[in-house]
Amino acid sequence: SSSGSLAGRHVLITSGPTHEPIDPVRYIANRSSGKQGHAIAAAAIAAGARVTLVSGPVALGAPAGATTVQVQTAEEMLNAVRAALPADVAIFCAAVADWRAASPADEKIKKTGDGEKPQLELVENPDILKTIAHMKTGRPNLIVGFAAETENVIAFATRKRRNKGADWTVANDVSTHTGVMGGDRNRVHLITETGVDSWPEMSKREVAETLIARISALLHDKARR
Ligand code: C5P
Repeated sequence: SSSGSLAGRHVLITSGPTHEPIDPVRYIANRSSGKQGHAIAAAAIAAGARVTLVSGPVALGAPAGATTVQVQTAEEMLNAVRAALPADVAIFCAAVADWRAASPADEKIKKTGDGEKPQLELVENPDILKTIAHMKTGRPNLIVGFAAETENVIAFATRKRRNKGADWTVANDVSTHTGVMGGDRNRVHLITETGVDSWPEMSKREVAETLIARISALLHDKARR
């Protein structure tokens, strides 16, 4: 059996973007490299956890030792998350598209030549984090959300923690000047029920390791009480 601070625990992680088809060649997506989510999966494996990584389309390899489920759309991601439960800890790192095309076209949408623009009707995607956080039975003991903001980072992320029903929110400033998106470094604030912890800038790998260490500490603390 595995050893480590998360031995015997199942950690479920979403990572990457989702792709919502408009037609066979076009899609709606958010910018997301998957680097932070994949790093968290690697850190959880290193801590001895059983890890399920539900990932949207990314250019990264699957972390060794994780069960990786590849999905395209938000609906597929929600289904894969449900199928992976129960989990002790769920960390929602994916940049899920908020909307999808109401009825994706079966064939490539063609330009008409007379300048007429296609009308794209959107419908809202399910909020995966919110759905899982509000489960009446089988809710993971600890649910961690991410909040990518470009202004009022802590205020917006604090509100998001409450609105979504997450236990913790990891807030990061992704304004263009920070280079966080697609980059290897991150500066985050961990928002819990009791307050805000602002961590120094570090690599995404170090953010992952620090987060996993905090989670291990919480679970061990809970077990002792
Ligand atoms: O509302 P916003 O997209 O900023 O919330 C970010 C958090 O919610 C992230 O943890 C993200 O993975 C999660 N989320 C989700 N499903 C959605 C939208 C966001 O799980 N449809």
